[in-house]
Amino acid sequence: MSDHARPAVRTASGGLAATAALALLAAPAHAGERVLGGTEEASASWVVALTDRDGRQFCGGTLVTPVKVVTAAHCVDSRAPAGLRVISGRPDLRASTGAVRTVGEVWVHPGFRDVTAGDDVAVLTLAEPAPEPTLPLAGAEETERYRPGAPARVFGWGRTTETGPSSEVLRSVEVAISDDAGCRVAYPEHDPGTRVCAGVPDGGRDACAGDSGGPLVADGMLIGVVSYGTGCGRPGVPGVYTRVSSVADAVAARL
Ligand code: ARG
Repeated sequence: MSDHARPAVRTASGGLAATAALALLAAPAHAGERVLGGTEEASASWVVALTDRDGRQFCGGTLVTPVKVVTAAHCVDSRAPAGLRVISGRPDLRASTGAVRTVGEVWVHPGFRDVTAGDDVAVLTLAEPAPEPTLPLAGAEETERYRPGAPARVFGWGRTTETGPSSEVLRSVEVAISDDAGCRVAYPEHDPGTRVCAGVPDGGRDACAGDSGGPLVADGMLIGVVSYGTGCGRPGVPGVYTRVSSVADAVAARL
């Protein structure tokens, strides 16, 4: 069952105090839930899989217009566009639902060097439109959805345990936006201007390898792009996401 349906968690986005939201997220009902530990997800049709030409999934992405996909720079910076495929509308990668698109153009943020230095974002232009609904991007002025403790949800086909295999089916898990001090404990290089961390204090809920490039979503908006992390779902170690608001103008110029 998707925990989308849990009213207590959904209304937390409305404005519960950070501590209350964290308490909800840490409640025993969620123990062990991690995309590491999430639930199967079939309704998020703007999540796309990036695959090679043989259909091997290696990253995620988000359809932000019918022909544009936002993903992580590190997913695509060393790949030729001709070798990329974008699969939409196929939460179960073993199925043949949805659409497969080739990629005409890859834009990698010009500031990208490596994941720990930020600007880990890229925009793919599809050769033909994808039929699925799109997700809006957080704008440069967005702050409320980045409030520490605010709930957000990460989606992907990545590993469901730190060393285990990837998932054949799209999964998602709710995490909480970290405060910058907490993020810096795990990542001394943390730059709150360009990155945002999210997780839960006890761990167990996180993105993992294979989820990179995929969406972190809050209140129907793309606020983060899965970038990196130390292990997956470790206590006190949140995941690191590209802060979409910090690259919103650069990305919007490519849409
Ligand atoms: N770099 C990873 C990838 O290639 C994403 C890791 C995210 N890790 C985390 N613990 N949140 O898929």
